[in-house]
Amino acid sequence: MLYDDFYIKSLITTIEDWPKEGISFRDITPIFSDPKGMRMVVDAYVHRYIASDITHIACIDARGFLIAAVLAYELQKPLILIRKKGKLPGKTISQRYALEYGEAELEIQEGAVAEGDNILLFDDLIATGGTLFAAISLLTSQGASIKEVAAIIDLPDLQGSQKIRDAEIPVFSLCAFD
Ligand code: PRP
Ligand code: ADE
Repeated sequence: MLYDDFYIKSLITTIEDWPKEGISFRDITPIFSDPKGMRMVVDAYVHRYIASDITHIACIDARGFLIAAVLAYELQKPLILIRKKGKLPGKTISQRYALEYGEAELEIQEGAVAEGDNILLFDDLIATGGTLFAAISLLTSQGASIKEVAAIIDLPDLQGSQKIRDAEIPVFSLCAFD
Protein backbone atom coordinates (compact mmCIF):
# COMPACT_ATOMS: atom_id res chain seq x y z
CA MET A 1 0.00 0.00 0.00
CA LEU A 2 1.33 3.40 -0.98
CA TYR A 3 -0.36 5.26 1.78
CA ASP A 4 -1.72 4.23 5.12
CA ASP A 5 -5.26 5.54 5.46
CA PHE A 6 -5.29 4.60 9.17
CA TYR A 7 -2.22 6.75 9.73
CA ILE A 8 -3.69 9.68 7.79
CA LYS A 9 -6.99 9.33 9.65
CA SER A 10 -5.17 9.21 12.97
CA LEU A 11 -3.73 12.68 12.25
CA ILE A 12 -7.14 14.24 11.56
CA THR A 13 -8.81 15.59 14.68
CA THR A 14 -12.52 16.20 15.24
CA ILE A 15 -13.86 19.33 16.90
CA GLU A 16 -17.52 19.02 17.83
CA ASP A 17 -19.97 21.90 17.34
CA TRP A 18 -17.55 24.02 15.32
CA PRO A 19 -18.04 26.37 13.49
CA LYS A 20 -21.72 25.77 14.34
CA GLU A 21 -23.67 23.52 16.70
CA GLY A 22 -24.19 20.07 15.18
CA ILE A 23 -21.09 20.15 12.93
CA SER A 24 -18.28 17.64 13.57
CA PHE A 25 -15.38 19.58 12.13
CA ARG A 26 -12.62 17.37 10.66
CA ASP A 27 -9.37 19.28 11.13
CA ILE A 28 -6.46 18.53 8.76
CA THR A 29 -4.08 21.00 10.48
CA PRO A 30 -2.09 18.20 12.25
CA ILE A 31 -1.13 16.73 8.85
CA PHE A 32 0.95 19.84 8.21
CA SER A 33 2.85 19.49 11.47
CA ASP A 34 3.70 15.85 10.75
CA PRO A 35 6.30 15.63 7.95
CA LYS A 36 5.70 11.87 7.53
CA GLY A 37 1.94 12.42 7.13
CA MET A 38 2.45 15.34 4.76
CA ARG A 39 4.79 13.28 2.59
CA MET A 40 2.39 10.32 2.63
CA VAL A 41 -0.52 12.51 1.48
CA VAL A 42 1.45 14.22 -1.29
CA ASP A 43 3.04 10.95 -2.48
CA ALA A 44 -0.38 9.27 -2.73
CA TYR A 45 -1.52 11.90 -5.23
CA VAL A 46 1.81 12.02 -7.07
CA HIS A 47 1.64 8.26 -7.58
CA ARG A 48 -1.98 8.43 -8.77
CA TYR A 49 -1.52 11.30 -11.25
CA ILE A 50 2.07 11.09 -12.45
CA ALA A 51 1.13 9.11 -15.56
CA SER A 52 -2.31 10.68 -16.11
CA ASP A 53 -3.25 13.00 -18.95
CA ILE A 54 -4.20 15.95 -16.72
CA THR A 55 -2.93 19.27 -18.05
CA HIS A 56 -3.78 21.50 -15.06
CA ILE A 57 -4.50 21.30 -11.34
CA ALA A 58 -7.22 23.54 -9.91
CA CYS A 59 -7.64 24.03 -6.17
CA ILE A 60 -10.11 25.68 -3.80
CA ASP A 61 -9.48 28.46 -1.26
CA ALA A 62 -8.11 27.98 1.33
CA ARG A 63 -7.35 24.51 2.66
CA GLY A 64 -7.33 23.06 -0.88
CA PHE A 65 -4.33 25.25 -1.74
CA LEU A 66 -1.97 23.62 0.72
CA ILE A 67 -1.56 20.18 -0.83
CA ALA A 68 -2.41 21.18 -4.41
CA ALA A 69 0.48 23.65 -4.60
CA VAL A 70 2.96 20.93 -3.61
CA LEU A 71 1.34 18.52 -6.07
CA ALA A 72 1.54 21.03 -8.93
CA TYR A 73 5.23 21.51 -8.14
CA GLU A 74 5.87 17.75 -8.07
CA LEU A 75 3.89 17.05 -11.25
CA GLN A 76 5.08 20.25 -12.97
CA LYS A 77 1.54 21.30 -13.91
CA PRO A 78 0.03 24.79 -13.96
CA LEU A 79 -2.03 25.57 -10.84
CA ILE A 80 -5.38 27.37 -11.09
CA LEU A 81 -6.56 29.17 -7.95
CA ILE A 82 -10.29 29.17 -7.26
CA ARG A 83 -10.77 31.83 -4.59
CA LYS A 84 -13.44 33.16 -2.30
CA LYS A 85 -15.11 36.32 -3.57
CA GLY A 86 -13.11 39.52 -3.60
CA LYS A 87 -9.61 38.00 -3.41
CA LEU A 88 -8.61 37.79 -7.08
CA PRO A 89 -7.57 40.95 -8.95
CA GLY A 90 -8.83 41.90 -12.40
CA LYS A 91 -11.87 40.51 -14.18
CA THR A 92 -13.37 37.42 -12.59
CA ILE A 93 -16.14 34.88 -13.16
CA SER A 94 -18.09 33.94 -10.03
CA GLN A 95 -20.48 31.34 -8.69
CA ARG A 96 -22.52 31.37 -5.46
CA TYR A 97 -22.99 28.13 -3.49
CA ALA A 98 -24.09 26.57 -0.21
CA LEU A 99 -21.83 24.40 1.95
CA GLU A 100 -22.32 22.28 5.10
CA TYR A 101 -22.24 25.32 7.41
CA GLY A 102 -23.03 28.38 5.31
CA GLU A 103 -23.00 30.13 1.96
CA ALA A 104 -20.19 31.67 -0.09
CA GLU A 105 -19.08 32.67 -3.57
CA LEU A 106 -16.12 31.34 -5.55
CA GLU A 107 -14.24 33.07 -8.37
CA ILE A 108 -11.65 32.40 -11.05
CA GLN A 109 -9.85 35.01 -13.11
CA GLU A 110 -11.01 35.45 -16.68
CA GLY A 111 -8.62 33.51 -18.92
CA ALA A 112 -7.44 31.21 -16.11
CA VAL A 113 -8.93 28.20 -17.91
CA ALA A 114 -9.20 27.40 -21.61
CA GLU A 115 -11.19 25.07 -23.84
CA GLY A 116 -9.54 21.64 -23.85
CA ASP A 117 -7.84 21.90 -20.43
CA ASN A 118 -8.00 18.54 -18.61
CA ILE A 119 -8.24 19.43 -14.96
CA LEU A 120 -7.59 17.63 -11.71
CA LEU A 121 -9.76 19.53 -9.22
CA PHE A 122 -8.43 19.40 -5.65
CA ASP A 123 -9.97 20.30 -2.30
CA ASP A 124 -9.19 19.07 1.21
CA LEU A 125 -12.66 17.73 2.04
CA ILE A 126 -15.96 16.78 0.38
CA ALA A 127 -19.07 17.29 2.49
CA THR A 128 -22.27 18.32 0.67
CA GLY A 129 -20.30 18.88 -2.54
CA GLY A 130 -21.65 22.44 -2.81
CA THR A 131 -18.16 23.94 -2.97
CA LEU A 132 -16.88 21.46 -5.53
CA PHE A 133 -19.97 21.81 -7.73
CA ALA A 134 -19.49 25.59 -7.78
CA ALA A 135 -15.86 25.02 -8.81
CA ILE A 136 -16.88 22.46 -11.45
CA SER A 137 -19.40 24.89 -12.87
CA LEU A 138 -16.82 27.72 -13.07
CA LEU A 139 -14.26 25.52 -14.83
CA THR A 140 -16.61 23.78 -17.26
CA SER A 141 -18.29 27.11 -18.16
CA GLN A 142 -14.94 28.04 -19.75
CA GLY A 143 -14.74 24.80 -21.79
CA ALA A 144 -12.46 22.80 -19.47
CA SER A 145 -13.01 19.10 -18.62
CA ILE A 146 -12.76 17.77 -15.08
CA LYS A 147 -10.77 14.53 -15.24
CA GLU A 148 -11.10 13.79 -11.54
CA VAL A 149 -11.92 15.38 -8.19
CA ALA A 150 -9.40 14.60 -5.45
CA ALA A 151 -9.68 15.23 -1.72
CA ILE A 152 -8.07 14.08 1.50
CA ILE A 153 -11.37 13.46 3.32
CA ASP A 154 -14.79 12.32 2.14
CA LEU A 155 -17.87 12.62 4.35
CA PRO A 156 -20.04 10.12 2.42
CA ASP A 157 -23.10 10.59 4.67
CA LEU A 158 -23.46 14.11 3.25
CA GLN A 159 -23.59 12.62 -0.27
CA GLY A 160 -21.41 15.19 -2.04
CA SER A 161 -19.01 12.62 -3.47
CA GLN A 162 -21.90 10.48 -4.72
CA LYS A 163 -23.47 13.50 -6.45
CA ILE A 164 -20.16 14.24 -8.18
CA ARG A 165 -19.89 10.61 -9.31
CA ASP A 166 -23.52 10.80 -10.52
CA ALA A 167 -22.39 13.72 -12.71
CA GLU A 168 -19.88 11.25 -14.22
CA ILE A 169 -16.82 12.84 -12.66
CA PRO A 170 -14.52 10.36 -10.90
CA VAL A 171 -13.75 11.07 -7.22
CA PHE A 172 -10.66 9.98 -5.28
CA SER A 173 -10.24 10.49 -1.54
CA LEU A 174 -7.65 9.18 0.91
CA CYS A 175 -10.03 8.52 3.80
CA ALA A 176 -13.66 8.82 4.89
CA PHE A 177 -15.48 9.69 8.11
CA ASP A 178 -19.09 8.65 8.89
C1 PRP B 1 -14.54 23.67 3.56
C2 PRP B 1 -13.66 22.65 2.88
C3 PRP B 1 -14.34 22.49 1.54
C4 PRP B 1 -15.80 22.71 1.86
C5 PRP B 1 -16.57 21.41 1.81
O1 PRP B 1 -14.21 24.95 3.10
O2 PRP B 1 -12.32 23.13 2.77
O3 PRP B 1 -13.92 23.47 0.60
O4 PRP B 1 -15.85 23.28 3.17
O5 PRP B 1 -17.92 21.59 2.11
P1 PRP B 1 -19.10 21.27 1.09
O6 PRP B 1 -18.76 19.98 0.41
O7 PRP B 1 -20.33 21.15 1.95
O8 PRP B 1 -19.20 22.41 0.13
P2 PRP B 1 -14.51 26.33 3.82
O9 PRP B 1 -15.47 27.08 2.97
O10 PRP B 1 -14.86 26.11 5.24
O11 PRP B 1 -13.16 27.12 3.63
P3 PRP B 1 -11.65 27.10 4.10
O12 PRP B 1 -10.96 26.05 3.25
O13 PRP B 1 -11.23 28.48 3.74
O14 PRP B 1 -11.57 26.78 5.57
N1 ADE C 1 -16.22 21.60 5.39
C1 ADE C 1 -17.53 21.28 5.31
N2 ADE C 1 -17.87 20.43 6.29
C2 ADE C 1 -16.74 20.22 7.02
C3 ADE C 1 -16.45 19.44 8.15
N3 ADE C 1 -17.39 18.70 8.73
N4 ADE C 1 -15.18 19.46 8.64
C4 ADE C 1 -14.22 20.22 8.05
N5 ADE C 1 -14.44 20.98 6.98
C5 ADE C 1 -15.69 20.98 6.46
